[in-house]
Amino acid sequence: MKAYYEHRAPEYDDWYLGEGAFSARERPAWREELEALAGALRALPAARTLDVACGTGFLTQHLRGPIVGLDASETMLSIAGARLPHARLVVGDALALPFGERSFERVFTGHFYGHLEDEQRAVFLTEARRVATELVVVDSALRPDVEPEGVEERAVRDGSRYEVYKRYFTPGGLSAELGGGRTLHDGRWFVAVAA
Ligand SMILES: C[S@@+](CC[C@H](N)C(=O)[O-])C[C@H]1O[C@@H](n2cnc3c(N)ncnc32)[C@H](O)[C@@H]1O
Repeated sequence: MKAYYEHRAPEYDDWYLGEGAFSARERPAWREELEALAGALRALPAARTLDVACGTGFLTQHLRGPIVGLDASETMLSIAGARLPHARLVVGDALALPFGERSFERVFTGHFYGHLEDEQRAVFLTEARRVATELVVVDSALRPDVEPEGVEERAVRDGSRYEVYKRYFTPGGLSAELGGGRTLHDGRWFVAVAA
C-alpha cells in the first residue's frame, strides 16, 4: 500500500476532484456529499489533532485546532505542506506512531483504516488510543456495487498497477469495530464515525 500511494500521490486529489482518470466516473452527488462531509468535519470541536495517513491533506484542511499530519509518503506530505501551511507534517508509520501517550486530544484518519488487515487494524487501534482519547474515522461507504472487502487492482497514470486491500463500511459496522461511536456522516460515498 505504501508504494502505491507514494506513486499515486501527484494524482491522488483527482479522486476527490473528479479529474484525470476519475473524470469519466459516474458518481451521482459526489461533490455535494464531499461538501457535506467537509461540513461535518468543520463542525467538530477544535482539538489538538493527529491526522494519521493524512495524504495530501484534502480532508485535514477542514479540521480545526492545532494539526500534526503523519504519512508514510514524502510526496503526499509535500502536497499537504502547500495546502496546510500551519500544520506540522511528519513522515512516519501509522502502526508505530512516534508520539507519547495522550500527546493529542484526537486522532483523525481518512480512507486509511479500511486498507488495514486484521492484525494491522488491532495495532493501529492500540496506537491511536495510546496517543489520544478520541478517534475519528472517515472511510468509504458500503454500496450495492462493491464487495465489503477484497483486493482491488489499482492503476496509476503511468500504467503501473498495484493490488490494494480495501474494505467498505456501514456507520453501524464501523462504530461497532471501534468499540462504539457516534455517526458524523452517513452517505452514499462516505461514512464518518467518532469513537
Ligand atoms: C487513501 S490515502 C488517504 C489520504 C487521506 N487521509 C485522505 O483521506 O484523503 C492512504 C494514505 O495512507 C498512507 N499510508 C499507507 N500506509 C501507511 C503507513 N503504514 N503509515 C502511514 N501512512 C501510510 C499513504 O501514503 C496514503 O497517503
